[in-house]
This record gives sequence, C-alpha cells and structure tokens, in this order.
Amino acid sequence: MDGTKKTLFSGMQATGKLTLGNYLGALRNWVTLSEEYNCFYCVVDEHSITVRQDPAELRKRARALLTLYLAAGIDPEKNCIYYQSHVSAHAELAWILNCFTYMGELQRMTQFKDKAAKHADNINAGLFTYPVLMAADILLFQADLVPVGIDQMQHLEITRDIAQRFNGIYGDVFTIPEAYIGKSGAKIMSLQEPEKKMSKSDENPNASIYLLDDPDTIMRKFKRAVTDSEGSICYRDEQPGIKNLIDIYSACTSKAPKDVEAEFSGRGYGEFKEAVGETVVSVLKPLQDRIEELSKDKTYLDTVIKNGAQRAEYVATKTLRKVQKKVGFPERIR
Ligand code: TYM
Repeated sequence: MDGTKKTLFSGMQATGKLTLGNYLGALRNWVTLSEEYNCFYCVVDEHSITVRQDPAELRKRARALLTLYLAAGIDPEKNCIYYQSHVSAHAELAWILNCFTYMGELQRMTQFKDKAAKHADNINAGLFTYPVLMAADILLFQADLVPVGIDQMQHLEITRDIAQRFNGIYGDVFTIPEAYIGKSGAKIMSLQEPEKKMSKSDENPNASIYLLDDPDTIMRKFKRAVTDSEGSICYRDEQPGIKNLIDIYSACTSKAPKDVEAEFSGRGYGEFKEAVGETVVSVLKPLQDRIEELSKDKTYLDTVIKNGAQRAEYVATKTLRKVQKKVGFPERIR
C-alpha cells in the first residue's frame, strides 16, 4: 500500500439482499475513493450475528458480498478486501472499547432502538454493543475517512467520541475519523413508503430494488413506486416519492436534482418512472454480469480472501498491541 496516501475504512453487513441504497449510498463512493486512499473494505460478518442467521446462508452471503466489492471495481492489489471474522483484533479491540463506552450513549442509538423493536424476542448484548464493534473496525486501521450512508452517521459520531475519550486518557493513540457522505444517494428511500429508508430487511419486496434484481423486475418495481397526486416532477419534501426517484436518477446519472427537474418538466409520472428504471438497469446490469463472471473464479476469490486477511491482520494487530500496552496489559514474553 502507498504510504503517502490517507487511510479509508468501510464495511457492509452480510445480511439480507443488498439494495440499491447500499450501492448508491456507499459502494459507489468506495470505488471512486479507492484510487485516492489506502482502503480497507470489510465484510462485517461479526456484526451480522447480532440477528439470528442460518450458518450456511451467512457463509454464502459473505462470499457474495466480497464478490460484489470486486465486481463494483475495487482493485484488491491496491486496496484490502477481507472478512471481519478473519482478523481477531476486531473483537479484541471491541472488548477494550466496551470499557470506554457508556450505557447511556448506546441507549441513544436509533439503530439499536429500531432493531430491538423489530427483534423483540432477541435483544442480545451484541445488538446493544454493535456500535462499539464498529468503532473498533474503524479505529484499528487508524482510518481518516469512512464513507457511509446517512443512516450510519450516529455510529460514526459515537466512534469519534470513544476515540477522543481514549486519546484524552492515554495520548494520541487513535486517528479521529471523518465521515464521508456522498453528494447524492446518501439516503435512498423505500419505493412503497418513501418516508422510510430503503432497507434490505423490508418485508415488502416491492419496496426495495435488490442489486441482483433482473431488468423486468426493476422496471416493474419502479412502475409501482408510490408517488402522489400533484402531477409535477419537483424536488421537494412535500413529494417524498418523486423526491426519492429524482435522488435515484440523479445519483445514477451524476446530474443535479434541479437539472433532473428541468429535464422532466411537463412530463408525466409514468414516463419519469420508466426513465428512472432504465437508468438503474443500465447501472446494475454490468455489475450483475461481472458478479457472475467473478463467482466462477474460485481460485481468484480465494487468493483475494487469503491476502486480504493477512494484510488487514498485520495493520490491525499493530494498533491492538499499542492499545493493549496503553491500558496496562502485561507484555508478551517470546
Ligand atoms: P449496512 O450493511 O446496513 O449498510 C452498508 C452501507 O450502505 C449504506 N446504506 C444506505 N445508503 C443510502 N440509502 C440507503 N437506503 C441505505 N441503506 C444502507 C449504509 O449507510 C452503509 O454505509 N454498521 C454498518 C456496517 C459497518 C461499518 C463498519 C460501516 C460495520 N462496521 C465500519 C462503516 C465502517 C451497517 O450496518 O451498514
């Protein structure tokens, strides 16, 4: 890796089917930033088990996610792609940071409140301390920048608070990370309930565009997308359905929302929905083709997985050892 570049860290959970929100809010930016930074892109499989998973399914999804990172265009020679569970330093640092995080801080996390409501029969301690593991992910790599969608901002803020608290006691151990939120696509909403974010755990399949949806399904879902009775294509909060479609179109074409408004001024919703659907198909189809191609190359994927784990472990262990020393753990005798 290039020692003159700054460091970037980000990750995605290997749960559920990934959505257009994951792509436009995060993955797309990961690719753009990957030339400028030394990047660590992690498949956060340890976070996934805060909700019950089928083991075989989790393994399959984790591999599919790693393949997606590659298919999106991240070069594993220049950047590091790996599984969180392959680097034990994540869990070890998370334990230490748990002792520097307050219950009150974690109780305020909206993702915890949402997930606890959704999985009332399994409000486990891991779900509660989930943000601490996320802080460990980021701080282990001394990341300067963390590209995420808006829904992860609160977790980024707690990461910064934990790092600052730790540094306040022990000196400058951790780099304080900055969030990177893309100009467009940072909060893609549900196609059926545009007041809610598009989520892989939504029970209504029409609410989300999944990255592996075929073109017909994508077109059908956009045709059914909930809009309003205003009849004008305007980017405003009073028209959340249309606003979301403009956001999607704008993120896929890199056009500003006001230019999208101008492009479709005086045209009907049906025509606009079709244009958005076609644009999304043109973005996702090449990605799907590349996933299919890469999935066949087992040897290549295994090499990426092996090298990624080694490289990530080397960097993460350096930070972990420093932290262990700072908090007073005895040195190893070799
Ligand atoms: P996860 O797996 O829920 O989502 C992965 C990324 O996709 C973004 N995202 C969205 N962006 C725009 N619109 C949406 N509808 C949408 N839905 C999801 C998320 O903001 C995220 O960037 N806790 C994290 C995973 C994680 C992580 C980390 C991220 C673990 N450790 C360290 C960054 C750094 C999560 O559950 O993301």
